[in-house]
Amino acid sequence: MQEFEIKIKVRECTLTELPESDRLLVEAAQEATRTSYVPYSRFHVGAAILMADGEIVAGSNQENAAYPSGTCAERTTAYYAAASHPGIPMKKIAIAAWTSHDKPEGLPWEEYFQANPISPCGACRQALLEYEARDGAIEVILYGRDKTYIFPSVASLLPFCFTEF
Ligand code: THU
Repeated sequence: MQEFEIKIKVRECTLTELPESDRLLVEAAQEATRTSYVPYSRFHVGAAILMADGEIVAGSNQENAAYPSGTCAERTTAYYAAASHPGIPMKKIAIAAWTSHDKPEGLPWEEYFQANPISPCGACRQALLEYEARDGAIEVILYGRDKTYIFPSVASLLPFCFTEF
């Protein structure tokens, strides 16, 4: 039996260290958290996708009383981007989140956000992966107040991913 390791390349920095275009993408994801509909979890997630033509498409999580019918911010945004920009590859996705459970009154907007990066769920990784397999790598930028992670692709977040269909 052989054992091997899988390595993934992750870059870490703070928001201010990001190149301006990436910072703008994170800011679009932050802004999109305001459009979330989260009466059940009160966890506000925003995503912003940079399209190959330079446009930014943003979206958020949308919940539903029939709980599994809700969608995460990443899938809302990816499906909206694909449907509204047919034929245009997605180049980057940024994700940001905060929870109104522990939001003290009077806190400045930038301080609402999760200190640590929020990471997409398995279903969202799989959904994004399919666009990546079709159109090329999608960089993933996971924003946190204290640190931001940058992954070179969706596949790097999903080892042994299902792409042969
Ligand atoms: N959620 C997202 O939108 N993206 C993630 O990456 C993780 C979770 C949403 C789903 C649900 O509306 C809420 O966050 C709590 O799980």
